[in-house]
Amino acid sequence: MKKNVLITGSTGYVGRRLKQILINQHDLNIRLMVRDKNRLDASILAKERQGELQIVEADTFEPKSLEVALQNIDVAFYLIHSMGSKDGDFKSKDRISAENFRDASIAAGVKRVIYLGGLGAKESASSHLLSRIETGEILSAHKDKIQTIWFRAGVVIGSGSASFEIVRHLIHKLPIMITPKWVNTITQPIAIDDVLAYLHSAIYADIKGDLIVDIGSAPMSFGQMMQQTAKVMGLERILIPVPLLTPKLSSYWLILFTPVPLKMAAALIEGLKSETILLNDNAQRYFSNIKPMPFNEAVKRAIDEMEHREVISRWCDSSEDKSCELKELDSPAGVGESAGAVLRDIRKFSIGKISKDRLFASICSLGGENGWFAFNFLWEIRGVIDKLSGGVGLNRGKRSTTNLRVGDAVDFWKVADIKDGKRLLLAAQMKLPGKAWLEFDIQSEFGVMVQIAHFHPRGLLGRVYWYSMLPVHNIIFKMLGQKIVEHATTKGGPLL
Ligand SMILES: NC(=O)c1ccc[n+]([C@@H]2O[C@H](COP(=O)([O-])OP(=O)(O)OC[C@H]3O[C@@H](n4cnc5c(N)ncnc54)[C@H](OP(=O)(O)O)[C@@H]3O)[C@@H](O)[C@H]2O)c1
Repeated sequence: MKKNVLITGSTGYVGRRLKQILINQHDLNIRLMVRDKNRLDASILAKERQGELQIVEADTFEPKSLEVALQNIDVAFYLIHSMGSKDGDFKSKDRISAENFRDASIAAGVKRVIYLGGLGAKESASSHLLSRIETGEILSAHKDKIQTIWFRAGVVIGSGSASFEIVRHLIHKLPIMITPKWVNTITQPIAIDDVLAYLHSAIYADIKGDLIVDIGSAPMSFGQMMQQTAKVMGLERILIPVPLLTPKLSSYWLILFTPVPLKMAAALIEGLKSETILLNDNAQRYFSNIKPMPFNEAVKRAIDEMEHREVISRWCDSSEDKSCELKELDSPAGVGESAGAVLRDIRKFSIGKISKDRLFASICSLGGENGWFAFNFLWEIRGVIDKLSGGVGLNRGKRSTTNLRVGDAVDFWKVADIKDGKRLLLAAQMKLPGKAWLEFDIQSEFGVMVQIAHFHPRGLLGRVYWYSMLPVHNIIFKMLGQKIVEHATTKGGPLL
């Protein structure tokens, strides 16, 4: 009999990767639970159409929707958290979310819930970790009614994971680093592939009753993690620990040089102050077939995935995730919101005989390491201004240089809508006195690509901003469209 498995959080960092593995298992029927179907890859939606998997839209704050999602499910993965919630009260949200999910799972007769939380002792836990612990406690509060296997992982090393992106950016940009004391804190990092191996095995594991499983590779300090990452990247780096660097200062340091926003940097730094080591040997006892790879190997794999453009998920994939927040723009109604903008820069570029697919590929290759095709220094200045004013800046880059999906970050933009070979709508996430979108629409029937910068100003300041930027926009937007068309015509060009 095939097992019916539900993966929640399948638009998040871990869930996106887990589903990629589980959908290829012939002994499992997979159902994905998402809040918005449009945020999944087109290939996954195609699999649903072909009946290879099910997708259910549900929200843990809407218990009725959970009834549908959990119907006939044997094993449910709980990979949800609200760390990035806008109102900041992630603790109570996480609590309610876990309670609703547990109660709905019990009512639906789910046999096993598999949860991935954070590693570390309760006594020294950061507020983020405490909330992860509380979630595990809530999920496993009714041991007589439902079984919970609760994995606890510390720093996860994988392409696009927040911790790895931070280490990589710091190493890349700073030959000499003044570091706070916490670089000496001991932790047990783990490769994302090993995390996925544990989660996968837990579906079948012959375990009676609840179990907490701490997972991680050999202990090392954060300083050692940085040095070893530098080595894998072929770089020499000098770390100078100073006692005076407070967590607050360290957070500012991180947001300046890495892609993570302030709230996330602060939460991560708070977590780095105390040791995160394995507190039980259940991984060894119950999952002895999995041998976590050494840290260096995990870093090599992460870099390899990035170089081969195989990054499946990134830390900013979840819509809940603070700087990636795009709630109103993510919704189908929000996509149309750009139509309500009152100021526009509209340009048409003749596309001659270029195929729409080639032109679309050129549009989608914008940003990240490819840059913005012309006047990159102006985009970079805008990125620095954004960072200094508390925005996301350009550091976020892109998940893939060529392939985009709704919700993907593209520097300080976010993909709000994508129609293959036709339209790309980017919503601005930089600090602005208003809301902005950048749209590319291929109108093959008229032989043109229409490029529109939409702006919805906030009050007088918004209008002053728009009109004062007109001379710069005039140069940038004109060249942008021209270069997109030019790149599409460059046969075998570097970007396509
Ligand atoms: N990533 C790591 O490095 C790491 C390390 C150690 C442990 N963990 C643990 O692994 C688990 C998953 O983490 P992650 O990094 O994959 O998280 P993530 O990328 O932030 O994704 C969170 C997921 O939760 C979904 N979600 C949030 N609120 C929801 C709600 N009310 N109803 C339904 N879905 C909701 C999001 O959906 P939307 O797309 O709709 O927002 C998203 O798919 C967490 O428990 C975390 O503590 C992660």
